Amino acid sequence: MHVALREVRDDDLLVFYAHATDPEAVRMAAFTAEDPSDRTHFEAHWARIRRDRSVMVRTIVGEGDEILGHVAVFGPTEEREVTYWIGREHWGRGAATAALRELLRIAPERPLHARAAADNGSSIRVLEKCGFITTGTERGFANARGEEIDELVLTLIYEPDAEF
Ligand SMILES: CC(C)(COP(=O)(O)OP(=O)(O)OC[C@H]1O[C@@H](n2cnc3c(N)ncnc32)[C@H](O)[C@@H]1OP(=O)(O)O)[C@@H](O)C(=O)NCCC(=O)NCCS
Repeated sequence: MHVALREVRDDDLLVFYAHATDPEAVRMAAFTAEDPSDRTHFEAHWARIRRDRSVMVRTIVGEGDEILGHVAVFGPTEEREVTYWIGREHWGRGAATAALRELLRIAPERPLHARAAADNGSSIRVLEKCGFITTGTERGFANARGEEIDELVLTLIYEPDAEF
């Protein structure tokens, strides 16, 4: 699937809010805000990350500039992490994989880390397809589950020279 990454625009936030409040996606991501539907918190979070120069956040667009989701690199130098979110109507077509590949091209810092709920098979698969390998397991409280669950830590140590 072809995707492009561009700077986040104000109007994108309406779409991101719909993605962030989709119950199925929230359950899958697990480690979310306490109340993803809290609009004030959502707006403050996005205002903060958009002005934080250490965060590279991009809107993922597909054919006809349709907004598919977002992808980001964030965190201190030694612990740079990637994260992404795709609208449910676009799942299963390679959007996350293509967007992460593009992000890895424009964000050259290595190593890069990622976290995923241990039962988020789709996200783990996306990371593995992009060359990340599991480097640890942690246990943490997942707001969307209301309990502690396992979380995998994955790391991009080398660049894959072939598609998985
Ligand atoms: C996780 C998410 C980003 C995946 O996006 P996507 O565009 O559907 O991902 P892709 O199509 O690029 O790849 C999904 C891969 O997972 C596979 N997959 C789907 N469900 C799976 C499951 N339960 N277990 C294992 N693999 C699974 C798909 O077959 C595909 O792999 P393939 O290309 O080898 O067939 C998307 O579902 C999402 O945004 N979810 C909500 C937010 C979230 O979980 N973000 C990540 C937080 S760590």
